[in-house]
Amino acid sequence: MYKIGPSLMCTDLGNVERDIKELDEAGVDFYHIDIMDGTFVPNFTLGPDFVKAVRNLTDKPLDIHIMTEKPERFIDLFHEAGSDMIAIHAETTNNLQGTLSKIQDLGMKAGVAINPSTPLDVLEYVYNVTDYVVVMTVNPGFAGQTFIPEMYDKIAQLKEEITKRNLEIEVMVDGNIGKDTIPKSKEKGATSFVGGTSSVYKSENTLTENVKNTRKLLNGGE
Ligand code: DX5
Ligand code: ZN
Repeated sequence: MYKIGPSLMCTDLGNVERDIKELDEAGVDFYHIDIMDGTFVPNFTLGPDFVKAVRNLTDKPLDIHIMTEKPERFIDLFHEAGSDMIAIHAETTNNLQGTLSKIQDLGMKAGVAINPSTPLDVLEYVYNVTDYVVVMTVNPGFAGQTFIPEMYDKIAQLKEEITKRNLEIEVMVDGNIGKDTIPKSKEKGATSFVGGTSSVYKSENTLTENVKNTRKLLNGGE
């Protein structure tokens, strides 16, 4: 029931094929691909050509996390590149409802990502067109940041809103997800976990070992 998705901005870009093969065999559930525009977040990462390349390497779901202004401009582009799930930031669009509906109409899962300072209110009228919510547990832009502890309450409140409405929306957490933060995030209601430098890409172990250790944590062990 708990899912782990490596954040491919942390993968070795010179060895994407090798890494994906290893991660596929290690049994990850999906791949998380960060798209940044240098404006909404102060960094650049991956793009549609990368998504296409990864699409040719794996059959696992590709989860696209768009961190650009006006993401509605890019839904078709990422759909054609082979995305299965697209999350857009509530802070970046004047048409959250319409864009989520469009993602779903194209046959993909629609996600809303929310920055640490964004209240859950933005979700109020779009729960019915949302398949997953990405609770940012750091401010997006860079790997290797520190989990913002106030986000535990946010995860719990979100879970409560979803349960109250009897919906099947998945709660994904993104940012500094690892052994120090997985147990409590899980306890608060997160079910999907983005694995970056704090888990899947921990440099002291192989990817296979890291996935195994993360899976153990997700299943309740140490
Ligand atoms: C941004 C990214 C990062 C990152 C997560 O959206 O998804 O949050 O790669 O990995 P950490 O924080 O563990 O380096
Ligand atoms: Zn992300």
